[in-house]
Order: sequence, then C-alpha cells, then structure tokens
Amino acid sequence: MDLDLNQLVATAGALIGQAPDAAALADAKARFLGKEGEITRHMKALGRLSPAERAAAGKALNEAKQAVEAAVNAREQALAAALLDARLAQEAIDVTLPGRGSGAGGLHPLSLTIERIEAIFRSIGFDVADGPEIEEDFFNFTALNTPENHPARSMHDTFYVEGRDAHGHGLLLRTHTSPVQIRYARTHQPPIKVIAPGKTYRVDSDATHSPMFQQFEGLWVDDDISFTDLKSVYTEFLQRFFETTDLDVRFRPSYFPFTEPSAEIDMRFRDGPLAGRWLEVAGSGQVHPTVMRNYGLDPERYLGFAFGSGVERLAMLRYGVGDLRLFYENDLRFLAQFNR
Ligand code: FA5
Ligand code: MG
Repeated sequence: MDLDLNQLVATAGALIGQAPDAAALADAKARFLGKEGEITRHMKALGRLSPAERAAAGKALNEAKQAVEAAVNAREQALAAALLDARLAQEAIDVTLPGRGSGAGGLHPLSLTIERIEAIFRSIGFDVADGPEIEEDFFNFTALNTPENHPARSMHDTFYVEGRDAHGHGLLLRTHTSPVQIRYARTHQPPIKVIAPGKTYRVDSDATHSPMFQQFEGLWVDDDISFTDLKSVYTEFLQRFFETTDLDVRFRPSYFPFTEPSAEIDMRFRDGPLAGRWLEVAGSGQVHPTVMRNYGLDPERYLGFAFGSGVERLAMLRYGVGDLRLFYENDLRFLAQFNR
C-alpha cells in the first residue's frame, strides 16, 4: 500500500482543527470518515491486499482512523466551549455595577392636598373623622332630609350596591361626605368641630367632574355660633391653603335639603392667571332642624354649620391643573412634579 497515512492524518487534522463551526466540522468529518470518505475508501480496499499486507495496513489504517476521530472530538468540544463562552460573555451580569435604584415614591398630589387641609383644620381646633364609602341609603340621603323620591336625589345619581342595610334599605357608593355628619354627631357631644375627607362617587365625567372624586365635609355644632363663624373659618382656611390673603370669598344663596339657609362658597384670586374669575369651591349652610334631630340633638338648643368641598377642585386651583382627570391617569410624568 503506497499510502502516506501520516500525510492524510496531518491534512485531516489541519482541516478539522480549523473548522470554524459545526457545519464545517461535519463536512471535514465526512470527507475522511463518511461513507465515501478517504479513510473509508482505503478500508474497503484492504480486501484486495494479500493477507500478509492486510494485517499491517489494517492496523495502520485503524490508527489513522482513530487519530482523525480524536481530532473531530477535540474540535467538537472546542467549538462547544467557545459557543458557551460567547453566550456567557453576552449574558454576563456585572454584580459590581451600582443598582439602577427603584426611585423614591412620593405622595399623590391629592394626598398632599388632603394632608394640607387636615393640618390647617386641626390647627384651628377641628377633629378629623371618616366614614364608609359603601354607605347606607339612610345616611347618604334619608337622614339628610332627602327622603326617597326627593328630586335632589336625582342630582346625585350614583352606583348602587347589591345587598341591604340594617333597616332593609339599599346600599350605595356615597355621593358626598355629608353622611359622616350624621355618623359623627350621633357619637360625639357638642361642641362638635370636625372635618371628614374621603372618596365620593357620582355618575359624572368631564374635565371638572370625575365619577370618583374626593370631598371633605366640615361640621361645627355649638350653642352660640353663627354664619359669621363659618364664613371666618372657611375664609381663613382658603387664605392658608393658597398662602395668600389676596383673595375674595362670597357666599352665594343656594339650596341643599340638609341646610337652611344654604350657600355655595365661591372664591376669586385678586392676582395671578386666574384673577377675577369666581370659582365654586364648596356647598355650605346652617344645619336643617330635621337633620339636627337626626343627629340626636335638640334644634332649639344647638346650631350647626356645615360645608362640603371638592378636594380636586382645590388642588387644581393650587397647582394650576386644567383637567381634573389628570389626577387619576397615573402618568408618572405628571405625578412626579408634585414630589420634588
Ligand atoms: C354637596 O355634595 C353637598 N354635600 C355639600 C354640602 C355639605 C352642602 C354640607 C351643605 C352642607 P355639591 O354637589 O355642590 O354639594 O358638591 C360639593 C363640591 O364637590 C362641589 O363644589 C365640587 O367642588 C365637588 N364635586 C361635585 N361633583 C364632583 C365631581 N363629579 N367631580 C369632582 N368634584 C365634584
Ligand atoms: Mg355645588
């Protein structure tokens, strides 16, 4: 056999060792070890040799075959290791990098507004209370002198909840914070000075109305107070809330079933971009005798003054926000501005 097996093994070794990827390696392997491969062909030719030659040639061919197989295995492993290294490098996590930080959270502008309202009223002697958002029909309407079929109920179209209250009346999402007047006055003795902030619901939706919004109720019950006291307290609140005495407050006659007389509270800035425009910020009035009786108090002895303000409206005025819905869209670009 005039075959230079050393040369063949060297050629195969070089090709295999330099195969750049799995496909090239498979080609190289087929060229030497495949069905028509060079080593295979020599194997097949062994039969034509004499028995004496065959043994020596067979042994040499086997050694050559093993050498080529070993080269293929080695290259296979090298390629796999390189692939793994590349992936590891690509997916590497540098644990020494500083964290990106999760960012400090902050209070929602309406929460900031409520905190501010509470702080001002606490400082002038008011308690802070709350009540349930799923309210009994009785507290939301009936006890507030708004019996069933009273036309004022239709201005407070709301979301009714399945189930009944203890009196067999319906449950609803409260349309105002006024039911807290009843709940609080029934469990506290005069003099009563309280505010009650919280969420309220109505079938309303536009730039200044949201189906869920927030109010804060104010109630002041004593035996020797007058509308003047309500007016001075609410005016002081507005001046401190807006940090200016450059504003006017007016009480505009209005109607609520639970107060008599009733007034909308309007304000107007004397300065700034909104100067000159009257803006309604609350409903208010002297507690109706029927409601005073529903508190469990004698209307001959006590006088009460109440108001209910929209939290979003005050926040809009304070921060110059034109559309109330922005407060509820959870856009961080908007919300982050209030926490600098
Ligand atoms: C009331 O809700 C009365 N309970 C207020 C009151 C309390 C009167 C105590 C007398 C005594 P009114 O419906 O006007 O009144 O609402 C009060 C304020 O809530 C409004 O001035 C406005 O600022 C705000 N408001 C009402 N509806 C919405 C709404 N859909 N979205 C945002 N704010 C609203
Ligand atoms: Mg109103």
